[in-house]
Amino acid sequence: MNIEILNKLTQNQDIAQNLKVLSENATGKIVFSTSFGIEDQLITDVIFSQKLKNIEVFTLDTGRLFQETYATWHKTELHYNQKIKSFYPNTEDLEIFINERGINPFYESQELRKQCCYIRKVEPLQRALKDTKVWITGLRAEHSPNRNSIETVQWDEQYQLYKYNPLLHWTSDEVKEYVNSKGIPYNVLHDKGFISIGCAPCTRAVKEGEDFRAGRWWWEDASKKECGLHG
Ligand code: ADX
Ligand code: SF4
Repeated sequence: MNIEILNKLTQNQDIAQNLKVLSENATGKIVFSTSFGIEDQLITDVIFSQKLKNIEVFTLDTGRLFQETYATWHKTELHYNQKIKSFYPNTEDLEIFINERGINPFYESQELRKQCCYIRKVEPLQRALKDTKVWITGLRAEHSPNRNSIETVQWDEQYQLYKYNPLLHWTSDEVKEYVNSKGIPYNVLHDKGFISIGCAPCTRAVKEGEDFRAGRWWWEDASKKECGLHG
């Protein structure tokens, strides 16, 4: 049973070992979603360097990512000589939305921001997760106060699968140390004050002392800053 395998992983800190055990023992489709943030780069390294072929690595290309993020994507594929699968927004839905609402409607209201996130991320995610049994993410508890209720292994009612967040309790310093010690490629925006990196119009650098998530949808109420990817 996948849940028994996943529960055992929570007793071991060795992420490379854990993902290997998962890929060798879990049944059904296993995927990992990357946004090319530093946590995701760490997980990608573990998957690609151990050649865990049955874990599908995918990204949701919203069309509004930073050039630096596309560069990280390109550099990662070259580094490991492996491809990352990409999912795109539904063309018709996006055309209708932009033609009715304009190119940057997200600053006008939270409703429009959520509609944009739905079209550009959530609907493609639904397709990416089709028939998936285990979904690995790079979520970290430090990134948002709303995420204290998240667990390392959890049943996702919406997508009917187990979600595995292996870095949930890692600190930023632990992630950075791991990435630097292994020479893992990462997004240069992290060296310019960006912590959590999403779409370009909706992400800015964070000043010293500011909350980890202050750079995402900074014009909105702090308690509601989720895009719908994680409930
Ligand atoms: S978000 O909910 O605010 O957008 P965040 O940037 O914190 O998410 O990233 C948390 C995890 O969600 C990432 O580690 C990754 O697994 C997944 N994720 C976020 N954005 C994307 C994306 N564009 N493509 C694929 N996975 C993503
Ligand atoms: Fe649209 Fe901003 Fe959400 Fe990206 S983060 S999908 S640009 S509202």
